[in-house]
Amino acid sequence: METRKADVQRPIIRTELPGPRAKQVIEADARYVNPSYPRPEYKLVAEKGYGVWIEDVDGNVFLDCNAGVAVCSTGHCHPEIVKAITDQASKLIHMCGTDFYYDLMPKLGKKLEEICPIEGETRTHFANSGAEAIETALKLAMYYTRRQKFISFFGSFHGRTLGALSLTSSKKAQRLGFMRQALDVIHVPYPYCFRCPFNKGKGENGKCCLGTIDWIENRIFNTTTPPEEVAAIVLEVVQGEGGYIPAPVEFVREIRRICDEYGILLIVDEVQSGMGRTGKMFALEHYGVKADIVCIAKGIGSGLPIGACVARSDIMSWHKGAHASTFGGNPVCIAAALKTIELLENGLVENACKIGDYLMQRLRQLDCDYIGDVRGLGLMIGVEFVESKATMKPAPKLRDRVEKACFEKGLIVLGCGMNTIRWSPPLILTKENVDVAVEIFEQAVRESA
Ligand SMILES: Cc1ncc(COP(=O)(O)O)c(C=O)c1O
Repeated sequence: METRKADVQRPIIRTELPGPRAKQVIEADARYVNPSYPRPEYKLVAEKGYGVWIEDVDGNVFLDCNAGVAVCSTGHCHPEIVKAITDQASKLIHMCGTDFYYDLMPKLGKKLEEICPIEGETRTHFANSGAEAIETALKLAMYYTRRQKFISFFGSFHGRTLGALSLTSSKKAQRLGFMRQALDVIHVPYPYCFRCPFNKGKGENGKCCLGTIDWIENRIFNTTTPPEEVAAIVLEVVQGEGGYIPAPVEFVREIRRICDEYGILLIVDEVQSGMGRTGKMFALEHYGVKADIVCIAKGIGSGLPIGACVARSDIMSWHKGAHASTFGGNPVCIAAALKTIELLENGLVENACKIGDYLMQRLRQLDCDYIGDVRGLGLMIGVEFVESKATMKPAPKLRDRVEKACFEKGLIVLGCGMNTIRWSPPLILTKENVDVAVEIFEQAVRESA
């Protein structure tokens, strides 16, 4: 049965899930596709997407509050994005910008200089993914500082390639089997005030206890990790895969101070938090701090694979041949990115802020003993499940049940961290969409408890 897109107001579930055609795809996938993908317990087999809706191969229609893991920032198949892609594809699909030239590369580079929270002039390396943007940042920091050590945070996720994996520490499964770290990275606690790693909770005036700052300056700098050997601190200001946890403002400012004091570069990973998701173009803008290097991917291409490592010009001044990529900065992907940024600037960042506030308010109003914390910025919101408010003990199995129950009712959300559900919808989400989503979520929580 053909669904009339304009009429869709709520999810439409027509078959058991997964449906008959979905089951065939899942079977073929199990035979031919890499089994290490970290897919959730529920199984969505997508066929088409429009706006905030995703339709599966059996004609079931879901309200997508995940956006392909925070990627489809402008919604599925936004007509202006589709047009930008098809126009570009009919002109030039590939010419390898690392050996030849086309105007799209400097055009996007110029735009990124304008919008990235970096002081002064910048240059951009174009990559194909978040992990590649991170790899670039790591190599660049080592090259520029002539230092080899990095500081990363527990709970962080920066990708699964070997260099990025050395930073990543959100789940054991990402590390198991790969033995030693490729890079010299020391991990320090992330300022997760709801579960303060120093058991202090929020300190004076509701502020961060800054235990990690003390840990870095007075412990690791004096023992295992002399600051003179540290190339960079790599930070997600809103931890993504680790549980959608915004860092406190005073913490991020102190990290910047440490970097300045010891000649360490600050690499901010905005792969998940960037491109308008938090209600500002970059999450770092909430902190009044500038980075030396910013890594971007996911939401910048509205679904096309593009990553970017944007750095201060004086830092990105390495020799010819030091770093390059055949596909990085593909013309079609850049065309999608330029159109995405235009749409973000023309209302979607603002919408993320406005609708994000509304979603946060609706989620915080849920009267439920199993929700321990609702936190986030803009449309990057985490709901943390607990056994009860009295114990605040993490409830990962309940989280998994809620995630699956949402799917069965036609709402796509995905877990992150140990016991959190993330809300990372397309930034076109409306108030009406929120009302439908929260109603389903509430039912799913009630039935799963
Ligand atoms: C903050 C962050 N950095 C890096 C990555 C890696 O990106 P990719 O999967 O495109 O390599 C991710 C992916 O989830 C991410 O959330």
